[in-house]
Amino acid sequence: MRLGYRIRLRQDPLACVEELSRDSAEGVMRLPWGGWCVRDTELAQTLLRDPEYHTGGSVFFGELLPARGAQVELGRAVRGLLRADVPRYRAALPEAVAALGTASRWPDAGTRLVHRCLADVLLHPGTPGAARELLRQAAHQGVAVRSPHVGRRARAELVRARLVTALAEEAHRRRRQPAGEPRDMLDAVLATCPEAEMSDRAVAELQLMMFRAIMAPVSAALAWSVLLACLHLRGAAPWPWPVDHVVREALRHRPVPWMLGRTLPHTVELGGTAFPAGELLSVCPYLLHHDARHWDSPYAFRPERWAGSGGHGPYVPFGTGPFSCAGAAVAHTLLTESLTALTGHAHLAVTGGDTRAAMSEGNVPRPFVLHRTTDHPSAHDTGGR
Ligand code: HEM
Repeated sequence: MRLGYRIRLRQDPLACVEELSRDSAEGVMRLPWGGWCVRDTELAQTLLRDPEYHTGGSVFFGELLPARGAQVELGRAVRGLLRADVPRYRAALPEAVAALGTASRWPDAGTRLVHRCLADVLLHPGTPGAARELLRQAAHQGVAVRSPHVGRRARAELVRARLVTALAEEAHRRRRQPAGEPRDMLDAVLATCPEAEMSDRAVAELQLMMFRAIMAPVSAALAWSVLLACLHLRGAAPWPWPVDHVVREALRHRPVPWMLGRTLPHTVELGGTAFPAGELLSVCPYLLHHDARHWDSPYAFRPERWAGSGGHGPYVPFGTGPFSCAGAAVAHTLLTESLTALTGHAHLAVTGGDTRAAMSEGNVPRPFVLHRTTDHPSAHDTGGR
């Protein structure tokens, strides 16, 4: 890839893809970093509906869990666990929000908040402390959400390696003392992966992958929701919108997975062009969510657009088709619960943030400080960050 593109991509991936789209006259454009992106909304929708496009298997699970039946089973099991855990998540929120203090540095603070509330469903409290502590470090030190900074990524790699070892040991221990009903995500992974087919280490890798697949988009979408709403209001005012509309609009305006791609298992014909097997063909949710032919004022952050039932264009923050997100509904609940706790009896304002995305696996906001002023200032300020 040319250096200019690499720099632009790092500076602002969404602006970069938008610029490429503006400069292209074709329905499908070549990406300078490899592969193709369908820039025309109608063609993108046709592709996403085409069963042929989805015959290559789940990109999400890849080689970690190849059997489709097991993938579906695991997705459902984890979704069920998270759903059943919502009351505990909700109950954990006031303390996690209080621990933020009056000024917290995001997006990292949001990741810590989400982890704190999910910790027990990821690894239940009876798990040896070392594994839970490593999972906490993974959430705090750039394993759950990949840092855009190279130095931090190297440090995260060390935590990751120690975590995989600890999870593999725990998987081994649990296989000797199987639980009845799954108590946490590791039990769910173990229930899907028989010992004869999958080593303890492979189970640990899968648990880590699921941990990141939950933590990264939920944390990023929470941070975007907070940032965009506060930037829009410009002042510590109570939010005039239902949190549900804020979440929907944040996921429209800054969809966390910004490219949904498939390596074609065989030739796919689209818009009169044949794309051969082996090509990477992607759809960009960000472009779909900003098509002015389908969305009113697409560049404006307007939660109120979700007040009515109509007037919405193509909306795919969780993908679509056979491999769409197994946890979409519960992810939405975790986000609205978190925002309810953050905004309850409090005014929010931000400093230092802007709407440009930083490049990670998905879109993450650049660092900003959240100032949270409660109606009872003494009650909830622990000075934590
Ligand atoms: C805001 C939060 C989330 C976002 C934006 C998100 C987004 C996505 C997207 C776009 C895909 C499809 C990728 C593709 O088409 O290749 C996906 C797949 C998946 N997501 Fe999520 N996700 C979120 C949270 C969660 C949660 C909480 C779970 C927990 C159950 C989860 C589980 C999965 C699974 C299992 C798949 C793979 C589906 C399959 O291949 O069968 N996600 N997610």
